[in-house]
Amino acid sequence: MDNKKFSWSPDGSELPEIEPHTKAKHRILEEYLERYLVTLCGNNRGKRKTITIIDGFCGGGMYLDPDDNNALWAGSPIRIIKTVDKALDIVRREKAKPDYQLDTKFIFIDNNKRHINCLKSQLEQSGLGHYLKDSEKCKIIFGEFEDYVDECINEVRQRKGSSFFFLDPKGWSDVSMDSIRRIISLQKSEIVYTYMVEKVIRFLNKKDEVKAYKNVLEVEGYYALLNFYLSGSPAKHRYIKDETLRLFRERGKAPFVYSFALFANKTQPKYYLIHLASNPPAQREIKYALWEHNTIDLVYQFEYGIYGLGFRTPDYYEQNPSVINITKENEAKCINNLNDDLMPIIYNHPDGISLDEIHTSTMQKNPATLDHYIQCINEQVDEQELEVFRDGKITTAKKLKPGDFIIRKKYKQLHFMNKTFRNM
Ligand SMILES: C[S@@+](CC[C@H](N)C(=O)[O-])C[C@H]1O[C@@H](n2cnc3c(N)ncnc32)[C@H](O)[C@@H]1O
Repeated sequence: MDNKKFSWSPDGSELPEIEPHTKAKHRILEEYLERYLVTLCGNNRGKRKTITIIDGFCGGGMYLDPDDNNALWAGSPIRIIKTVDKALDIVRREKAKPDYQLDTKFIFIDNNKRHINCLKSQLEQSGLGHYLKDSEKCKIIFGEFEDYVDECINEVRQRKGSSFFFLDPKGWSDVSMDSIRRIISLQKSEIVYTYMVEKVIRFLNKKDEVKAYKNVLEVEGYYALLNFYLSGSPAKHRYIKDETLRLFRERGKAPFVYSFALFANKTQPKYYLIHLASNPPAQREIKYALWEHNTIDLVYQFEYGIYGLGFRTPDYYEQNPSVINITKENEAKCINNLNDDLMPIIYNHPDGISLDEIHTSTMQKNPATLDHYIQCINEQVDEQELEVFRDGKITTAKKLKPGDFIIRKKYKQLHFMNKTFRNM
């Protein structure tokens, strides 16, 4: 069953059907890559950037969409190439950098020869055949990702610049923690990884029999309390998510880790799309893309932080129409919770804390985007609780900058202290 879902014939006469959660994954990938490249190049003082993009489990390049009369739906390699072109066009036109150059190299890997051949034919048919003829721009490799990860890392080192790895396997043992560590240690590198959490959990009871748990995933010491939780309980889902993030932060040595839950059924995430990054701007940008595709009700699950942001298939919403319009409520809940988290930190910094510092030090703990942080602080400025200093002077600007200092308002402090003394 699973095999048929991801089976491409070499000539493209057989294409797999796309599923709703895979569509959501593709949209997140595209949107994130576009945002990230536009920010990376738009903020760059120079006129060119180098980036190496590796799609380590690339598949055959095209699907059929049963929800759209079996129309063609492009897979990750074609989407990645087209998104890079689109992002460069935006940088040139909207960022006033008409001669900006992006030196991009794509590496596509798959261990199924039929899929590789299908990808080549789909690239031709999508008008991207020229990539097949230019090995400086595009390499297509038939083989196991783990056998070629060194080659990819060396290529990134040689080319210098940034790197982006999209790792989208079907199983949990195709990418080793060691590879994740080495990719992240490249610096200016990041990974979007499909972590098949449902499978990891299902077989965890057999972890002593399955060597890969220890050797590949390095999972020893993680998920240890799993069996103490009631099956299917919110607390269990939360535990799984938190342990997953801890695993990648500690074993993967990734300074910035964030997850997005993808559900194929109603009850538990099939996989997490995990974003691992060596720097904060990458995580800042992916959160915007994740909000765009979130269909999970934060209001219901925020206290528990069960799944964080995520995507459930549309049939769930057909049965539960009340939760379709959730973005507004989610934002209100998100800012409320953010307020509870941020105010104690600001109060603990009597000389103030920069927007950049407070955002970077807390961004992995909540779903809020940078815009939500700014909105939350502005609301407290309006409430006369906080003030913002820019270049040593109070500012009333609403568009806050990373270097702005957020300080608890002195008048409020005095007022509060006077009240306390009077009541003593
Ligand atoms: C989920 S599909 C990829 C879909 C593709 N990323 C997309 O979004 O269009 C997984 C692919 O990985 C390939 N694959 C499985 N194990 C692999 C391995 N160890 N190394 C490289 N490719 C592998 C399969 O042949 C299959 O084409």
